Amino acid sequence: MSTLIINIKELLQVRETNIEKVSGEEMKTLPSIKNAFVFIIDDTIVDFGPMENCKGINADKTINAQNKMVLPTWCDSHSHIVYAGNREQEFVDRINGLSYEDIAKRGGGILNSAETLKNTSEDALYKQSIDRVNKIIKLGTGALEIKSGYGLSTEAEIKMLRVIKRIKQDTPIKIKATFLGAHAVPKIYKENKQDYLNLIINDMLPKVAKENLADYVDVFCEKGYFSLDDTAQILNAAKQYHLRSKIHVNQFNAFGGVALAVKHNALSVDHLEELNNEDIDALRNSNTMPVALPSCSYFLSIPYTPGRKIIDAGLPLALATDYNPGSTPSGNMNFVVSTACIKMKLTPEEAINAATINGAYAMGIANNYGSITKGKKANLIITKPVPSYNYLPYSFGENNIDQVLINGELI
Ligand code: NIG
Ligand code: FE
Repeated sequence: MSTLIINIKELLQVRETNIEKVSGEEMKTLPSIKNAFVFIIDDTIVDFGPMENCKGINADKTINAQNKMVLPTWCDSHSHIVYAGNREQEFVDRINGLSYEDIAKRGGGILNSAETLKNTSEDALYKQSIDRVNKIIKLGTGALEIKSGYGLSTEAEIKMLRVIKRIKQDTPIKIKATFLGAHAVPKIYKENKQDYLNLIINDMLPKVAKENLADYVDVFCEKGYFSLDDTAQILNAAKQYHLRSKIHVNQFNAFGGVALAVKHNALSVDHLEELNNEDIDALRNSNTMPVALPSCSYFLSIPYTPGRKIIDAGLPLALATDYNPGSTPSGNMNFVVSTACIKMKLTPEEAINAATINGAYAMGIANNYGSITKGKKANLIITKPVPSYNYLPYSFGENNIDQVLINGELI
């Protein structure tokens, strides 16, 4: 099956050669072709260029994208989309004056979601989660990382990861799974956290590895959750299963988590709302992608990750949703891109780079996703008629997506 998209007003994020990420100044450029075509065979981009070069191409199907933009689908490298129920009461409690930390301290937050998940069957959890995945595909997400971390017991963590595995098999978008056993300390381990760490290291990790349920490992490295030493224990243990890390750091406090993650060659460090110069220095010359989650800052009213400072230091930056029931009940990457421009002062070019190619890097899939490159998967957004690509982040809250192609097929 072949598909030809013609008369594209502007084809965005065009990369002739395969690049794995863009950093610093390079992020200011979003290569594009005006009045363009893309030719797809089966699930792969095989050709693209200006319209005058598409004469003679015969396709099974032709899509006329006059006045519309085409760009790669979003690569959302950080989500907790597998969860049970919601936490709208905590949302109201925060409106009435409690903080996210207050709610966690009284046993709510992540522990609240863990309790609900424990009482939800694997099938029901799958159903709730795949419904969310299907919704975000329509919003232009074509690759998604999903974390466990609302199980907090071996049984429930495995249940979550099996659900992620089913989603991986059933959805056409690319999924990567991350084991986040160290998301919060369960109540019964409150007085002896080391016992919970031992459970993660000696029971959960071996089982997760044996069933091949995770691509990455994550830790919530934060005051009141997991310390630098706790995080190091888990990262060291994960090495024997060849699990690279993607770590929650610096959401509320900066205390050396970034340097620790870089030392362990983490694939990404995520959140970074609190970021100091030592953190920036630690990231220089590393392979670790900083990831900002502006919808989380928006929803919790906490500082935005200093994305401007990160990029101006010559570093790369990725954007992701953090979709979860507590801090970010939204999986809308279009809102993330808008908010990065509006609140973090990224230019539209920087934000689109951060949400496509750099997002792909942050989930280890930049070879096949994140840009319009021959040989990459044909995961594409076709916008509604828009005046320019600046209009996409500018018109925040508006749905500018007309069609989404995943693996060359219209959704
Ligand atoms: O990334 N900060 C840790 N984990 C999630 C929130 C989890 C929750 O509140 O349920 C986050 O924001
Ligand atoms: Fe998160």
